[in-house]
Amino acid sequence: MSDGRAVLVSGATGLVGGRLVPALLSEGRPVRVLSRDPGRAGAGRPGTNVFAWDGLRWPAEALGALDAVVHLAGEPVFGGLLTAARRRRIRESRVESTKALVEAIAELPAASRPKTFVCASAVGFYGDRGDEILEEASPHGSGFLADVCVDWEAATKPALDLGLRVVNLRIGIVFAREGGALALMAVPFRFGAGGPLGDGRQWVPWIHADDLVRMLQLALADEAIAGPMNGVAPEPVRNEVLTQALARQLHRPALLRAPAFALKLALGEIATELLGSRRCVPRLALARGFSFVHAALESALACELG
Ligand SMILES: NC(=O)c1ccc[n+]([C@@H]2O[C@H](COP(=O)([O-])OP(=O)(O)OC[C@H]3O[C@@H](n4cnc5c(N)ncnc54)[C@H](OP(=O)(O)O)[C@@H]3O)[C@@H](O)[C@H]2O)c1
Repeated sequence: MSDGRAVLVSGATGLVGGRLVPALLSEGRPVRVLSRDPGRAGAGRPGTNVFAWDGLRWPAEALGALDAVVHLAGEPVFGGLLTAARRRRIRESRVESTKALVEAIAELPAASRPKTFVCASAVGFYGDRGDEILEEASPHGSGFLADVCVDWEAATKPALDLGLRVVNLRIGIVFAREGGALALMAVPFRFGAGGPLGDGRQWVPWIHADDLVRMLQLALADEAIAGPMNGVAPEPVRNEVLTQALARQLHRPALLRAPAFALKLALGEIATELLGSRRCVPRLALARGFSFVHAALESALACELG
């Protein structure tokens, strides 16, 4: 239960944070946000206390007397070719910032440490797994994103020794009209050039943004939740099914298949992440009684694209 102390949210200006912050405020929770651009962050988020940071060093004044930290910040993964510099930024903004947070919390007197630490992770943890059903207990896979996620989750572990409850939310593809994967996926359809990626057989673990926010709220409130938690809808779909559903929603054809080799040529290594198959299910959330508003794909797409 919340004790009236604040929740600190990093990445509050992002796709997920942008919906999480108002939801926390409407629960009556005081919210502090961290941003590399505090002016922009404050303008869009009345009712929050905004703190500047550099994406790595957590300002001590933001950390005192917190109930919880939700760490969502990170260099966008699908923001261009995976150059060495981008790989470094993707990793550092997640793994090193998490290590820095735990170190900063360790400096606090025990009584003023937050009780709960919810750290984003991603379904990328599982790598490319064909038709295997992936629950929280499933082992990690391989590849760049899997390695980042493994290290990102490992960086939270020392927080357990400090007495915090830690939740590693392995987030799926978030569907939101503001941007992210759904907006990108919709572009070729709008030009009549939509179609399955590769052979279209890969499983896509998606989640509606509002359900993800409610899952984050559950992770903050339910003291029985700890460790990895899949942040996905209960019905992952194959890419070809998603493609057809997008085409129906946008009233456009889905005729143009994007062959795997062309994707790899155009996008480089990040294409393997789009072509990878992850049949993730939200075992823990369902076990804790979570009920989805958008359990079905058509409902999620209609809500965000309709
Ligand atoms: N959206 C998805 O489909 C999805 C799927 C799986 C996992 N996730 C994970 O969930 C978390 C939140 O996702 P999101 O979609 O809300 O992310 P997002 O929209 O890309 O926003 C993340 C925020 O992180 C901050 N940020 C960006 N680059 C940074 C850097 N180099 N160093 C430090 N901070 C940086 C930015 O805040 P400021 O500019 O205000 O500092 C940004 O608003 C991310 O860690 C992401 O990897 C998301």
